[in-house]
Amino acid sequence: MKVIEIHGSFGIKNLVVADRPEPRPGPGEVMVRMKAASLNYRDLLTVQGMYNPKQPLPLIPCSDGTGEVVETGPRVTRVKVGDRVATTFFQGWISGEPTFEKVSTTLGGPLDGVLSEYMVLREDGVVQVPEHLSDEQAATLPCAALTAWSALVTQGHIRPGDSVLVLGTGGVAMCALQFAKVHGAKVILISSSDEKLERAKLIGADQGINYTNVPQWGKAVRDLTGGNGVDHIVEVGGAGTLAESLQAIRIGGQISLIGVLAGPQKEMNIRPILMKNVRVQGIFVGNREGFEAMNRAVAFHKIKPIVGQTFPLGQVQEALHLMAGRGHFGKLCLAFQNE
Ligand SMILES: NC(=O)c1ccc[n+]([C@@H]2O[C@H](COP(=O)([O-])OP(=O)(O)OC[C@H]3O[C@@H](n4cnc5c(N)ncnc54)[C@H](OP(=O)(O)O)[C@@H]3O)[C@@H](O)[C@H]2O)c1
Repeated sequence: MKVIEIHGSFGIKNLVVADRPEPRPGPGEVMVRMKAASLNYRDLLTVQGMYNPKQPLPLIPCSDGTGEVVETGPRVTRVKVGDRVATTFFQGWISGEPTFEKVSTTLGGPLDGVLSEYMVLREDGVVQVPEHLSDEQAATLPCAALTAWSALVTQGHIRPGDSVLVLGTGGVAMCALQFAKVHGAKVILISSSDEKLERAKLIGADQGINYTNVPQWGKAVRDLTGGNGVDHIVEVGGAGTLAESLQAIRIGGQISLIGVLAGPQKEMNIRPILMKNVRVQGIFVGNREGFEAMNRAVAFHKIKPIVGQTFPLGQVQEALHLMAGRGHFGKLCLAFQNE
């Protein structure tokens, strides 16, 4: 079967098509013919060797994919041949609290990922996808959508009338916007682009701020909430944006720390965390139980994840370059033309 792997050394240019033996499902395993994948910022970092420089190569990258179950091994009960499924980000984190063992089971590094004609996975490592979604839309669920869901719902306990600050217009951000809106929350969104702000408003963002024009957006966000600050922040910037987020959060609010797009390290004043009684909650995607709960909501509300652009699988390098240049809006997807 054909796969795309990082071969020789790290770098987008070292993604090559390779042949690997077609796997067969053993007891408790399912074989999936892959149809679509979505790209996460983590996949870009992995390919560039910046996520885990010690990752042995070759590696099939990317954690998030969808496909059709084409064969099941003995004693499989969760899915059947013909089911449309998505991969889970952590193959071994089904429920409960995370442990080192559970979170060491991620696809796309250390385990081979989804850019593969076929995958054999434990039946526990796949989830049925909502019927109304295309393969590409469903491929956005395992990481970006579940991360946003974990931040706002599982860990954030969002309620109608809450206010949410969303940073940027990337994959996690757009999912957070959609989940916040179906929970009846007001959303303030910041972006580097006025055009992207307008697109986000069409999806439901109530107010937008251009963070390039307004570098001290923390106070601007507080002003938009009558001086109180927002209840939740979906923090994808990290150390480079946290000081502004601490300006924007209300006393007792929750900052869900998700990403490090603006850097992982910076000297900063942490006093507002205690003085404002802020809950800073690290988020690492989420478990399968959360994924299934999210899917029920996605199906009930007929939410369609925002796919900004879909590339044929063979153009994965172009797609990653687009992500690196922040030219995208919402999710970037790959379609496997294997009909
Ligand atoms: N912890 C987890 O479980 C988890 C899960 C998924 C992702 N992540 C992390 O979360 C981050 C976002 O991931 P993603 O896949 O959504 O990335 P993405 O799709 O590449 O999102 C990038 C967007 O973020 C916005 N952004 C960048 N720098 C910013 C800044 N300084 N202030 C505000 N917004 C900024 C930009 O939006 P505009 O173009 O609109 O300005 C940019 O287009 C990454 O660091 C990723 O590794 C973590």
